[in-house]
Amino acid sequence: MKVLVVGGGGREHAICWKLAQSAQVDKIYCAPGNAGIASVAECVDIGPMEFDKLADFAERNGIGLTVVGMDDPLVGGIVDVFEARGLRVFGPRKNAAILEGSKAFSKELMKKYHIPTAGYTTVHSPEEARAYLQTSRYPIVLKADGLALGKGVLICKTKEEALAGVDELMVDRKFGASGDNVVIEEFMTGREISVLSFVDGKTIKIMSSAQDHKRAKDGDKGLNTGGMGNFSPSPFYTPEVDAFCRKYIYQPTVDAMRAEGREFKGVIFFGLMLTADGPKVLEYNARFGDPEAQVVLPRLENDIVDVFNACIDGTLDKVDLRFSDEACVTVVLASDGYPVSYKKGFPIHGLENFEGRKGYYCFHAGTKFNDKGEIVTNGGRVLDVTALGKDLHEARANAYKATEWVTFENKYMRHDIAASIDQAK
Ligand code: AMP
Ligand code: GLY
Repeated sequence: MKVLVVGGGGREHAICWKLAQSAQVDKIYCAPGNAGIASVAECVDIGPMEFDKLADFAERNGIGLTVVGMDDPLVGGIVDVFEARGLRVFGPRKNAAILEGSKAFSKELMKKYHIPTAGYTTVHSPEEARAYLQTSRYPIVLKADGLALGKGVLICKTKEEALAGVDELMVDRKFGASGDNVVIEEFMTGREISVLSFVDGKTIKIMSSAQDHKRAKDGDKGLNTGGMGNFSPSPFYTPEVDAFCRKYIYQPTVDAMRAEGREFKGVIFFGLMLTADGPKVLEYNARFGDPEAQVVLPRLENDIVDVFNACIDGTLDKVDLRFSDEACVTVVLASDGYPVSYKKGFPIHGLENFEGRKGYYCFHAGTKFNDKGEIVTNGGRVLDVTALGKDLHEARANAYKATEWVTFENKYMRHDIAASIDQAK
């Protein structure tokens, strides 16, 4: 079978790499892909929002399955376009991807179905926001309703900061229409866990837990990013937390979406916070995390095509999802200056060091070929250096060792990815 993957980051590299291991897959295409993805797939120069062109490509090339990695096309309705043309596709339809696409929607859903989350209100104008903020307790959290490249969340310590945030989101419209409605949410504290799951509309199968490092700098300092590193499993995700979440969060979310006539098929990514009052949902995503996919997929033992098919066909209850006992750690090699401004176009050296080394992977996030055919940096997040180990300590040591195998000008990374594992009991 021929498969098409939509996206071009480290997550899509990991998905393509996993697909390449399936005996059912003869050929992988990736649109638009990147220089690393080109080693496992044929890259196709079509943008992720060009739904008709992508569907034309799938029809012309006899693609048997399309896998959408990114949030924008899912929220924009790529799955509906493919389905209307009789093309097989993995991911939620537009009316279900709204779980990620609108924070106002997801908060309303959680409230209606009693799924644990932070208290909130949704405001629709700057005046309404300012009035509400007069009597609030601080810190408080402002969230642009729509997609904002992961940057639409403002943690405000004081009323002044919050009022400035309202101007940024609703008056200056920094994220365009995404900020026309704003969720104002109670500030929570606790450890953050990422839990990815496969969903077929009614059955949900939980993947192994992971833990992100969202801030740019060591010690969780600096700005929020897409994620600077990740590890799996999380020692903080205890059997008690798992049992609680299965009962009050995971299946209830899937059932709530069905009850709303928005059957969800694809990956639900639960962003959880372990608060003193128990686990609560910070956010939902309608896709694999990036770089969560990079630490979870190397541990997945199933043929991923079987799992994708089961989600599409509604037979996930028959799938025995298995993960290896090994641990996995990803350290993101970024361009210095990310997430604000950074130079790119620098040649990357040493990628060949990963060849033939079992348990070490270098997933490409932002790379491309230059005119001379060299692989160069092409983004804020450049490479996701990933390693397995018998436990988290070994995986962490392996991943950091491998970060030394590659060099490029402006190389930047955090040095404390997975350092928190020592705090687990
Ligand atoms: P989100 O995109 O909703 O996950 O928010 C991005 C990040 O902001 C999260 O990973 C948290 O670190 C932080 N955050 C979001 N909501 C809250 C909240 N209610 N309380 C504290 N921190 C939050
Ligand atoms: N790493 C967080 C995300 O993919 O949203």
